[in-house]
Amino acid sequence: MPDTSADIVFHDRMLSLGLARVSEAAAMASAKLVGRGDEKAADQAAVNAMRDQLNLLDIRGVVVIGEGERDEAPMLYIGEEVGNGNGPEVDIALDPLEGTTLTAKDMPNALTVIAMAPRGTLLHAPDVYMEKLAIGPGYPVDAVSLDMSPSERVAELAKAKGCDPSDITVCVLERPRHEDMIAELRSTGAAIRLITDGDVAGVIHCAEHEKTGIDMYMGSGGAPEGVLAASALKCMGGQMWGKLLFRNDDERGRAAKAGITDLNLIYSRDDMVTQDVIFAATGVTDGSILSGIKREPAFLETETILMRSKTGSVRRMVYRNPTSRPATGR
Ligand code: FBP
Repeated sequence: MPDTSADIVFHDRMLSLGLARVSEAAAMASAKLVGRGDEKAADQAAVNAMRDQLNLLDIRGVVVIGEGERDEAPMLYIGEEVGNGNGPEVDIALDPLEGTTLTAKDMPNALTVIAMAPRGTLLHAPDVYMEKLAIGPGYPVDAVSLDMSPSERVAELAKAKGCDPSDITVCVLERPRHEDMIAELRSTGAAIRLITDGDVAGVIHCAEHEKTGIDMYMGSGGAPEGVLAASALKCMGGQMWGKLLFRNDDERGRAAKAGITDLNLIYSRDDMVTQDVIFAATGVTDGSILSGIKREPAFLETETILMRSKTGSVRRMVYRNPTSRPATGR
């Protein structure tokens, strides 16, 4: 469980700008691989660039959400120390390419994603599935819950929003395991936005309903992505809950290794991210929240969203990098 004790001082103002460069660098590195059908190459390019940039930051960082266990991932593995060794002790959660298939197929909403928080304050989520539920800001606390059925959630959210259930749009990952949930949601009259991948973006969509039209996200996806999404919602406002799902002893073992003892706990957003957090994401392919990378003969352009929970600030940054003068990383 992350540290919920007294507030830890986190001088995140300048660090956050560095974090934006990290996600930008990962996106730019994957630019040439958008739409090339090679998920692995795209991911590897993003991982290498993210790691190089991260190691320039004045932090003593530890990757708590990363590319996998140490024996599975050569870089940005869970437990890897990152940063230049000067500065605050921090936890890092990252996904150098969230939506590898989306990138390979040039489909919407692929992102590079990174969050940073004081050491010991991000949930060390194992690489298992998580049942997720999220809504945007402005609703009463616990307006919906994981204990409710999908149709009850639609009814309760419609009541809280003051609209008809048919005016609610729910975002769901299109997977066979969600067929029953989708059928139940359809029976309420709600609209469903099906996505093929990328549930970090799916959850973030709830926080900007006016842009995306999405009111609620539900369904199971990666637990590491759950912590990243909770970090974003902590900055933007909005509520989220997650419950780890275990299919076998290997997955339960992963939880034990991550220090998780209660396998049935429902984590709220603030259980997953207990203190202030900074979050950056850069669009790789065009999406509802961020534009994707633009490749022109003379330059590459990226759009990054950079947020701090301490202030609730949400900054959008467009970065143009001339191709004749490649980024030096300095
Ligand atoms: P990758 O970028 O690692 O391919 O993950 C994409 C993703 O869609 C996540 O956003 C989501 O949490 C997870 O995969 C869902 O897993 P599955 O494809 O097994 O349903």
